[in-house]
Order: sequence, then structure tokens, then C-alpha cells
Amino acid sequence: MRRIALRADFNPSHPGETAMMFDLSRWLLSAFACLWLSSSIARADEPAWPYQFTVGERITYEVIIEVDTGDAVDTHTARPTLHVAGVQDTTGTLKISDTQVAFRSRTKENTFRRRIRVPRRPPFPTLRGFSEREVTVAADGTFVTEKGDSQLPYALGDVMRLLMPSHPGTGDETWTESAQTSIRITSQWPPRISPFRSNEVERLSATEEETWTVESATEKQVTLKRGYHLETSDQIEGEPRLAMQATGTLQLDPQTGWLIERQDDVKFTVRSENLTVKYPLEIRVRRLTEEERQELLAKKDAAAAARVAPLTDEERTQALVALESDNKTTVQQTLMKLYHKSPEEPDGELAAAIANWMQDDQDFVRMNAAKALVNWGTIEEVPLLIESLEDSFFAVPLAAQEALGRLGDERAVPPLVARVRELRSRAGAVQALKSIGAPAEQGVQQLLDDDEWTVRFEACKLLAEIGTEKSLPLLEDLAESDANGVVKRFAENAVKEIRGR
Ligand SMILES: *[C@@H]1O[C@H](CO)[C@@H](O)[C@H](O)[C@H]1NC(C)=O
Ligand SMILES: *[C@@H]1O[C@H](CO)[C@@H](O)[C@H](O)[C@H]1NC(C)=O
Repeated sequence: MRRIALRADFNPSHPGETAMMFDLSRWLLSAFACLWLSSSIARADEPAWPYQFTVGERITYEVIIEVDTGDAVDTHTARPTLHVAGVQDTTGTLKISDTQVAFRSRTKENTFRRRIRVPRRPPFPTLRGFSEREVTVAADGTFVTEKGDSQLPYALGDVMRLLMPSHPGTGDETWTESAQTSIRITSQWPPRISPFRSNEVERLSATEEETWTVESATEKQVTLKRGYHLETSDQIEGEPRLAMQATGTLQLDPQTGWLIERQDDVKFTVRSENLTVKYPLEIRVRRLTEEERQELLAKKDAAAAARVAPLTDEERTQALVALESDNKTTVQQTLMKLYHKSPEEPDGELAAAIANWMQDDQDFVRMNAAKALVNWGTIEEVPLLIESLEDSFFAVPLAAQEALGRLGDERAVPPLVARVRELRSRAGAVQALKSIGAPAEQGVQQLLDDDEWTVRFEACKLLAEIGTEKSLPLLEDLAESDANGVVKRFAENAVKEIRGR
């Protein structure tokens, strides 16, 4: 028997307000649960249907999670891809990609709509660490090492575990795994991993038990039944505070060990002093055929191409109208769309329409306007962009200096040089001055006698790229006599680079 370790995180957005139905259901719906099973002790016997990993193999699944919230059905859909990055003996290194999740909520018919539904974040679109998730998996499905995490919402565990169940040993017909575990309830999402700040509100100890049965096995398909039960030892009036009960059916391909399909019905129960809320959810997983996978890839490529495609005349007109709108949502959507595109020729009219939003009182509107100007700004917008370097919202100057770098106007050099002296804004300002190139040389020279050696060092590196003979006397001086060894070496290098041009 293997031991299973499990951890869960919940995120009650209002931990003190779980007594009322409304708040309690919101608590549940915003509950991000992390729960993972990791088998650390490998089985002694041979797996009956071992995973056969092939380097470079990519398998895409469709994962649908449907949650009945009482007055609505919420659906989360994802199409993650598992990629076999390496194989050693029978152990595979797997990564997961394409983890965006589409969220849809459908109000049930005949529901008396008296409750206001609060807008919710879709529970798992951009989980921290999702993309760095990497697991090495033994032939029986044991996770040997794990990096990152890819937790599903609603205490459903790790998405990789869902797609890669562990397999029974040869001759096993039914087997049970059980463990003691704990559920962490945290006050925010994502749970902080910093050792200095804990956001843990409470930790509940729990037991879990998983039972597997081989229902049928042919050469083409193996069917397994799964039963799962989790409950906290903490109780309210004799019943566990949190409980989860699941039954599922899984189909495996016995030739390769990969999951073909699974369906799980889950009942999640949360009890508070005066109230018990149960919500049923269903998980459906299906492996896409190679044809469906190719179709999905083609769609993704087409969407990416459409995003950067030049504006048509009609779209340009629509954008101009939208930028005149009072509706900030419309304006924001238009600015974000423009950000991905660029004009073939400078477009003064559209640039001016974008620039109007640089004075808006909302930070994100100014940020998106500045970002749109990175590609759309013209010489006319240079004074405004320079002014925006002083904007109080950090993202605005970042975008403004990128736009100024692209426009290459000399007027931007003095303020950008000043920003190199500040550590906060240094990296972006250096990048912008590099883009401006030769017209920035004289301004950058002024940085060579800064008190701070890191500033002199940046100036040497910049001049190595954009400097001309005019900078040689200053650089030679520095190479000879700077107090800092690093600056000396980089000044010397800049001299060499300039001479070599
Ligand atoms: C549960 O109900 C009782 C009686 O109605 C009430 O006094 C108590 O405050 C309630 N508990 C919570 C947590 O709301
Ligand atoms: C603003 O525009 C968005 C979409 O562009 C729309 O969904 C929303 O209803 C509009 N708001 C108002 C107040 O018109």
C-alpha cells in the first residue's frame, strides 16, 4: 500500500461572515482549494498497465468542471496539454501547458432571482506556478518528484494527478489507500509561501480514503471505478465540518497507460454552526483525438495572427468611435486591442484619440493608453509622453519610456538620462536610450561622472553600444582612473567596441 499525503487550501474571502447563506455560498464559491496526493513510496509489484512515455509526445485533454451553485450552473472548461519532456528508463518528465480556463455561468430557469450574484473571479485561470509545473512520473503513475503546482478549484486536487491516475499492480482487483492529512484554510489567494507572513487562518486535520476497483480489462480498454471520501476530524453536532465524497469511472489505454476518459461526481459539504451547504459538482475529462488537437492548434494560431493583424479601415473607424465613448469598458477594450497591433504608417488621428485618455483619472485607463502609444504614438505625442514619465501609477512611465525609445526623439533624452540615475526606473530608461541610439550619446556621457558607480557602469555599457568617437576621451579617462574596478573594465571594453566599429 502507498501512503498518500494531502494538503488543501481554502480562501474564504470573508472568513468572519460564514453564518449567512449568501456569505457562506460566496465563501464556497471563492474557495480555491489545493489538495494534492503524492505517493512517496513506490509499489513493490509491477504495474498492470504501465505508462509508456515517448519523448516529445503531447497529449491534450478537455477538462470540464460543472458546479451546481443552487441558482446557477457554473462551468469551467480547460484544454491542458501534457508534454513528455524527457524519459529515463521507465520514468517520464512531464510538463503541462495551455492551462487557461474559460468560465461560464448559466442561471437556472425557474429560479427566483432575488439574490444578487456577486461577480467572481473564475477560480483557476492563472494559478501561480501553473506553467512551471514539472513532474517526474514512474511507470505506475507514482509522482517521484514535483515542481510548481497546478491546483484545481473546489478541493479537487492537482490537475496533473487528475489526468495521470496511478495504476494498480498486476493482479490487483481492488485496493484501498488511506491517510491522515490536513486542510489549510487561508485568508487570501494565492496562499503566500513566504516564511515571514502566514495567512493561514485555520488548519483542520482530516482523513481520506480512496478505493479502486478494476471493473473490466480488455486489450483495448481498462475500466476502473474510484470511490473517494474525505472528512475533517473537527465536527459540528456530530458531523464533519468539511466532507467530500466522490465516485468516478476511468478508462485507460492498456497499451500506453494513458487516461482516455474519466467522469467523477463529487459532493462537497461544508457545515457551519447553523447551516449546512452541499454542492454537487461533476468533472468530465476526455482525451482529444490527434485530429481535434491539430484543429485546436490551428485555431490558436489563427487567433494569434488576428490579434496582430493590421487594422482594417472598418476596424479603424470603429476604434475611433469607441475611443470617443463614455463607456470606460469599451475604451479599455479598444486600447488593449490596439496594444497588440501597430500601424503601417504613423496614424496621427488615432494616436491623438488614444492620447486623450492619458489624462484620465483611472490608473488602468492611463496605463492602457500609454501601452497603446508604444506602437501608435507619433512625434506629436512626445511632450505628453515625457510628462507621463512623472505619472504616479508605475505602469504609465514604464510604457511611456518604451514609446519614447521607439520614437527616438531627442527631447526625451534628458528625462530618460535622469531616470537612469534612479534605480527604480533604470532598466527601462537604459532600454529606451539604447533604442534612441546616436541622438542619446551626449546625454549618456553626462552619466559618466555620476557619484554612483552602478550608474557609471550602465553608461559604459550603453556607450559600448551607441557611442561614437566623441565618447572616446571620456571613456579612456575612466578606463585609466575610475575608482571602481568594474567601471574601469567596462570603460575599457566600450573603448574597444567603439574602435572596432
Ligand atoms: C446560530 O443561531 C443562533 C440562534 O438563532 C444564534 O444566536 C447564533 O448567533 C447563530 N450562530 C452564528 C454563527 O450565526
Ligand atoms: C459598456 O460596454 C460594455 C461592453 O463594451 C457593455 O457590456 C456594458 O454594458 C456597457 N456599459 C454601459 C453602462 O453601457
